[in-house]
Amino acid sequence: MPIAAHRPMRANTLRESCDSRGLGVNQVLGIDIGGTGIKGAPVDVEKGTLTADRYRLLTPKPALPAAVADVVAEVVAKFGGDGPVGATFPAVIRAGVAETAANVDKSWIGEDVAKRFGTAVGRPFVVLNDADAAGLAEMRFGAGRNKQGVVMMVTLGTGIGSALFLNGVLVPNTELGHLELGGKEAEKRASEIVREEKHLSWKKWGARVDAYLRYLELLFSPDLFVIGGGISKKATKFFGYLKTRAPIVPAQLLNEAGIVGAAVAAMEAQRSSP
Ligand code: BGC
Repeated sequence: MPIAAHRPMRANTLRESCDSRGLGVNQVLGIDIGGTGIKGAPVDVEKGTLTADRYRLLTPKPALPAAVADVVAEVVAKFGGDGPVGATFPAVIRAGVAETAANVDKSWIGEDVAKRFGTAVGRPFVVLNDADAAGLAEMRFGAGRNKQGVVMMVTLGTGIGSALFLNGVLVPNTELGHLELGGKEAEKRASEIVREEKHLSWKKWGARVDAYLRYLELLFSPDLFVIGGGISKKATKFFGYLKTRAPIVPAQLLNEAGIVGAAVAAMEAQRSSP
């Protein structure tokens, strides 16, 4: 998985770094960066559980890189420790650099997010796309656990995020929320925010989500769909309208998925680094 850790200083091994300060063994700090909130918590990366309550601060407005980095630093300071930190970001992230900005300030394009946060905090950062992080968490600990073949995670929120896995391995940055559906970007037709803003009935919105998932099925023939985002709590309201061939299940980690997935990505990058 091409996820690069930015290391502003020599990184200890996970075990050393966790033993030496507040966080316990196997604990890694995960941070989920969204349009409204920046949430973090230490994660037991063997169990996929938070080991302390989430700490949430508002995303600054405008959400410019320096301002967001300050809030990230505040969240990190709340928990202490000195090991690697994982963070999600709602954009294409390659080797720590944001390449798109669909629902975030355009000034992020070209920004080395991992470096920006790493410099602000003084710890190594691993940054990955938010849907990829949520998918990683579901594959390790939730609805996709032990699932082989092609699994597609779709998050329905402000935008539509996607994460594609083959035999548990992530194909990062698929960005399938931007596919065209009915003459518009899919996320402008079938995201959760569109349902709310347009006051769509569950039936009407369910039909849009169904059309979208069937299109994904035509392209990728997944063996399983996992539906994430806040809406996964309300699966019973719209799953009845979804008619794909592949089974569809709601995500299980709900609003912890991003934090858990970010921490797992940081741990995996750390373990695979020479
Ligand atoms: C962004 C993706 C993100 C998704 C969900 C889309 O607009 O392009 O990078 O994963 O929203 O936040």
